[in-house]
Amino acid sequence: MLPTSMTESAPSNLTNPAPQGNGQNVSDSPVAETCIEIANFDAWYGAFQAIHNLSLEIPRNQVTAFIGPSGCGKSTLLRWINRMNDIVPTAHSKGIMRLDDLDILAKSTDVVHMRRLVGMVFQKPNPFPKSIFDNVAFGPRLHMKLRRSELEELVEWSLRKAAVWDEVKDRLHAPALGLSGGQQQRLCIARAIAVGPEVLLMDEPCSALDPASTLAIEDLIYELREQYTIVMVTHNMQQASRCSDQTAFFFEGQLVESGPTDDVFTKPKEKRTDDYVRGRFG
Ligand SMILES: Nc1ncnc2c1ncn2[C@@H]1O[C@H](COP(=O)(O)OP(=O)(O)OP(=O)(O)O)[C@@H](O)[C@H]1O
Ligand SMILES: [Mg+2]
Repeated sequence: MLPTSMTESAPSNLTNPAPQGNGQNVSDSPVAETCIEIANFDAWYGAFQAIHNLSLEIPRNQVTAFIGPSGCGKSTLLRWINRMNDIVPTAHSKGIMRLDDLDILAKSTDVVHMRRLVGMVFQKPNPFPKSIFDNVAFGPRLHMKLRRSELEELVEWSLRKAAVWDEVKDRLHAPALGLSGGQQQRLCIARAIAVGPEVLLMDEPCSALDPASTLAIEDLIYELREQYTIVMVTHNMQQASRCSDQTAFFFEGQLVESGPTDDVFTKPKEKRTDDYVRGRFG
């Protein structure tokens, strides 16, 4: 059960740390609005083409799961969505990728600004070797001019939102690396939301966690979609069906099919999807 505070809105006196989307849960609206548009997207590492002519619309305030066998390009696509492949010298791409009106791939796009809008949570929790407080305060200190009391309020808001406040509130100045794996992952989610992103990208966020921590993160992901657009890579079919609204199935760098998770799992259009979700390969 998530604390009541999970549903509270961001501290009102802060530079808006809440997401910059419309904050509306799509379950209230008949047609989901597109948050990220990907069209005719190709990506390479040197001469090797990892993604082929991929088009996909990622709806706002939903959880979209990327599934598919190892090496099919899930992480590559996720990494292009916040330009993490900029640091891979051989990586290049072409096509369209937009977050609302922002052209994600344009050379002129301010990547630092873009990454405030698109937060990333990795497979293995990666807290900085700093205190719990300083981990969450890191982004706001870099990007926002806040008074100490405002910063404290924002850190508390983020930790509550990530459902880890009750477990850390008495040791905010203790090292983050002393937390359990599941707590570290929720701390990393708090750190990601502290700067007010619109989108959260999660690359196998539970694969290093025990079953109890996994369920806590899954509950959290499901709750967070009310305010954020979430894209999650997972190898766990139960997880995709439990906590995603949309599923996209990839195979050998191509998008085979995408749609509402129930449809992809119970009446897939393509045989390859059916075989994969039934565990016949991958
Ligand atoms: N930095 C890189 N340099 C060269 N090739 C890469 C690099 N990163 C990924 N690849 C290749 O691109 C393809 C897609 O890799 P990617 O990591 O996107 O797969 P994935 O679907 O996330 O797999 P997994 O489920 O194992 O994480 C693979 O063939 C991989 O070997
Ligand atoms: Mg991967």
